[in-house]
Amino acid sequence: MGNGHGPLKVFATTAGVPLAAKVWDHLSCKPGLLDSGRFKDGEISVQIGEDVRDCDVFIIAPTNVPADNFMEAMLLCQAARLSSADRITMVVPYLGYARGDRKDQPRKPISAKLALQMLELPKPNRFIFLDMHNEQTLGALDTVFDHLYGSAVAVPHLKALLAQSGKPYIVAAPDAGAAQRADKYAHFLSGGDADIVIFSKMRPKPGEIRSNSVKIIGPPVKGKIVVLVDDMIDSGGTIAHAAAKAKEKGAAEVWVFATHAVFSHGAFKRLRESKVDRVFVTDSIHHDPDLVAKEGGGKIAVLSCGELLAKAIHRTHEGESLSQLIL
Ligand code: R5P
Repeated sequence: MGNGHGPLKVFATTAGVPLAAKVWDHLSCKPGLLDSGRFKDGEISVQIGEDVRDCDVFIIAPTNVPADNFMEAMLLCQAARLSSADRITMVVPYLGYARGDRKDQPRKPISAKLALQMLELPKPNRFIFLDMHNEQTLGALDTVFDHLYGSAVAVPHLKALLAQSGKPYIVAAPDAGAAQRADKYAHFLSGGDADIVIFSKMRPKPGEIRSNSVKIIGPPVKGKIVVLVDDMIDSGGTIAHAAAKAKEKGAAEVWVFATHAVFSHGAFKRLRESKVDRVFVTDSIHHDPDLVAKEGGGKIAVLSCGELLAKAIHRTHEGESLSQLIL
């Protein structure tokens, strides 16, 4: 079958392999063969280990730190292009450097735009992204893209667990920027125009939250499960502060869903010691499951976005609409 772009081949950069393993499984396809390594000085060497001439190539390439992940993604895309692939789709479950999405202060770069421009350099034909920090950033692209959301993974799961709990709940945005996302989750979880709560905070600089700056805006949370939804957990500070405020106001439990588990240094400890009861993330960024189980204090559950990406790849390959994957 296929859509006239040749046989389907799915490759992954080093950072993408654990997630790709699930995608290969769902698609019942063989891993794309690569011969990757490093030069003595640490530079990346990539060689595609099979024929991709006139093939429909997908490259799963999260670009979380280190920045080498960008380089490997670009090299692999260029290798596929130079090997006469008919079509190349870069599947980017997590786009690193996406938080710098505007020049809101003098003498600052717009890192998100640069990150996208870098990935466009080797001329892929399409992109598939998952839960961009700010989807307007994708307007910087000249290449065709599809944008999927973590809600497609989270909502069915959260819906079942919330129903099981039998407790009242309210969806919450951990900061003002997340209000639209929270509104969408509230709609999908509860239907109609369900209420949301918004937490506001002041960040004197990236990674810091001004103490006592957290405020809660919206209906009472007393006795309810507060379901915080965000695009990412980095240091864990945002949700730890919001959870503390929610509990101070009488919330029964605090649950968190964030698509991207950045989990930078200190995040596990912060989550363990926080008032958050349950954390749900996806595997858009890979972490050793044993480490998550051990360091997460039993609070963290990882939901896989592998099936969602596999469906997106299959539908793209077949030339079918992706709308039904967008929740
Ligand atoms: C901020 O705008 C983002 O959506 C996240 O809330 C933030 O990046 C999370 O960072 P941290 O976990 O370090 O507070």
